[in-house]
Amino acid sequence: MQTILVWDWPVRIGHWLLAGAFALAWLTGDSEEWRLVHAFAGGTVAGVVLFRLAWGVIGTHHARFTSFIRGPRAVLLELAALLNRQPLHSTGHNAPGGWAILALLGLGLLTAASGWAVYQEAGGEWLEEAHEVLANGMLLVVLLHVAGVVTGSLAHGENLVRAMFTGRKTGQPGEAIAGSRPLAALVLLGWAAAVAWWLAR
Ligand code: HEM
Repeated sequence: MQTILVWDWPVRIGHWLLAGAFALAWLTGDSEEWRLVHAFAGGTVAGVVLFRLAWGVIGTHHARFTSFIRGPRAVLLELAALLNRQPLHSTGHNAPGGWAILALLGLGLLTAASGWAVYQEAGGEWLEEAHEVLANGMLLVVLLHVAGVVTGSLAHGENLVRAMFTGRKTGQPGEAIAGSRPLAALVLLGWAAAVAWWLAR
């Protein structure tokens, strides 16, 4: 095993943009004064998630859903191995992490969509309530996700957070992605800004 390129630029930039936008939206959720910033942050979440859904189909190998969404048997096997202190190595996302990612993307989209509908005054109090429940659900999954990342980093003795910045992890040379796709990352930034502007205007 050696250090290889696993996460392309769209995955890395998208990740930290999503994490930052969610945090900002969360912190400004209760304030009238910060409403525009809140809507812009929520719009950024929507833009990043929509791009990520497409990138999960056309992106580099480890970014594709087919490479990290596995059935319940694989999830249980990996969790059992972790509990037995014999964690299984995954070069990309592990099986439990893959489902947390799907949940985060789904909740991100639903939270942003319900927030947009509230912003348009499309529903009553129930819609505001639904938006808040979805945002709280997402925060819960984020906390589980961060706990999983810390556990995985300790179990494998590999700094997974640093890998989300550098794109590099341990793996077999044949598992490396060919390039980091900087142009696609620029498209992501332009697209996320356009969606955020359009939703918050
Ligand atoms: C605050 C909201 C956050 C959201 C919504 C979020 C969401 C996600 C998503 C969607 C992915 C999959 C990346 C992809 O394949 O495109 C991911 C992976 C990852 N996230 Fe986060 N994340 C958040 C916060 C954090 C934080 C605070 C950390 C640092 C502790 C972190 C560390 C990571 C790491 C290391 C991975 C890769 C895991 C692996 O190696 O399989 N995330 N996150």
